[in-house]
Amino acid sequence: MPIELLGMIATTAGSEAKAVDGPVVDPGYVKEFSRAHEEAGFDRVLIGYSASSPDGFAVAAAALHATEQLKVLIAHRPGFVAPTVVARKLATLDHLTGGGRVAIHHISGGSEADQRRDGDFSEKADRYRRTGEFIEVLRRTLTSPEPFDYDGDFYRVEGAFSAVKPATDAGIPIYFGGLSEGAVDVGARGADVYMLFGEPLADVAEHISTIREAAAKAGRHIDFSLSTRPIIADTEEEAWAKADRIYAEAAELKARAASGDTLAFARPLHRERSAASADRLQRHAQRGDVHDERLWLGITRLMGPAGNSTAPVGTPAQVAEALLKYYDLGVTRFLIRGFDPLGDVRDWGRELIPLLREGARRRDAERAAA
Ligand SMILES: Cc1cc2nc3c(=O)[nH]c(=O)nc-3n(C[C@H](O)[C@H](O)[C@H](O)COP(=O)(O)O)c2cc1C
Repeated sequence: MPIELLGMIATTAGSEAKAVDGPVVDPGYVKEFSRAHEEAGFDRVLIGYSASSPDGFAVAAAALHATEQLKVLIAHRPGFVAPTVVARKLATLDHLTGGGRVAIHHISGGSEADQRRDGDFSEKADRYRRTGEFIEVLRRTLTSPEPFDYDGDFYRVEGAFSAVKPATDAGIPIYFGGLSEGAVDVGARGADVYMLFGEPLADVAEHISTIREAAAKAGRHIDFSLSTRPIIADTEEEAWAKADRIYAEAAELKARAASGDTLAFARPLHRERSAASADRLQRHAQRGDVHDERLWLGITRLMGPAGNSTAPVGTPAQVAEALLKYYDLGVTRFLIRGFDPLGDVRDWGRELIPLLREGARRRDAERAAA
């Protein structure tokens, strides 16, 4: 299984360590950022979701039309748009952009407050059951040659049928994220790719075996993606010094509450219970800032419960090797995004990405020869 390299685009420049200095939606930046990912050799870019962010489908269309091969992964929260409608939106976008470049990432909401911004007051356990049904109806709408009925606890359709199907045999890949009660079963039964945040190796190995077991019970194979925030420099010393600089910049912006984190709205408010996957990262950070030699959790500790925040730190070769250790565990897709979003994408295209591809190819060849 060839390695897949994912990035993440936003509609304006900014990160935890870089204050936003543009409009909320900057069309020029979306075009430039998408093209930079394609030129750097990325396969796909994620478009995040929050109840206050720009619309992911519109951003995905802009990214696809600004590039040739680059694929997209649209983060989507079930509960607001009917799965039959989302299926037709995905298939239509697939046809209008050359085919085989569109995928969907199912998120069930780590923040009650953010769910309620869009009018959803359901409990998390129900949100995961709903996501399970959403994926079932979405898949059937994308594949069923004839009208079908579905009568679930959350979705009910009669004679549902989409004249527009995915443009290629690749279909619309289904990604999924979340680790709280009920999440694993839903993801293992319904998704093609289970997305994980960058925990230490032993923890990721545990997630992979638990999720694979649940998928096997459903007679399914499932792939894994891992999200991290690489920090790279020519020497290891320089890389750690860079991490310290990023920490200082993020701390200063956090203090000024000027963080350019465009997904800040999706973060749980301090008084509410945070996402299980985010909690796990916090617990690792409390145990120490560095795990497995070079996985740095300084920003995780500083920013509190949130999403992708753990950083492999080192030279391009050291970081590639650190990530390929997850490849040995069964992770075949890597989502990497920087604290200097555009600058890092351009930088990683020079060494990190070629090293990751070469390293995965060598490992596959050794495995095949063994
Ligand atoms: C790679 C990845 C990307 C995610 N992107 C988003 C996002 O854009 N918006 C969001 O609200 N949650 C996002 N999530 C969060 C989760 O999908 C999940 O809904 C949330 O963490 C709650 O999960 P849990 O409490 O079950 O761990 C993402 C998760 C992963 C692993």
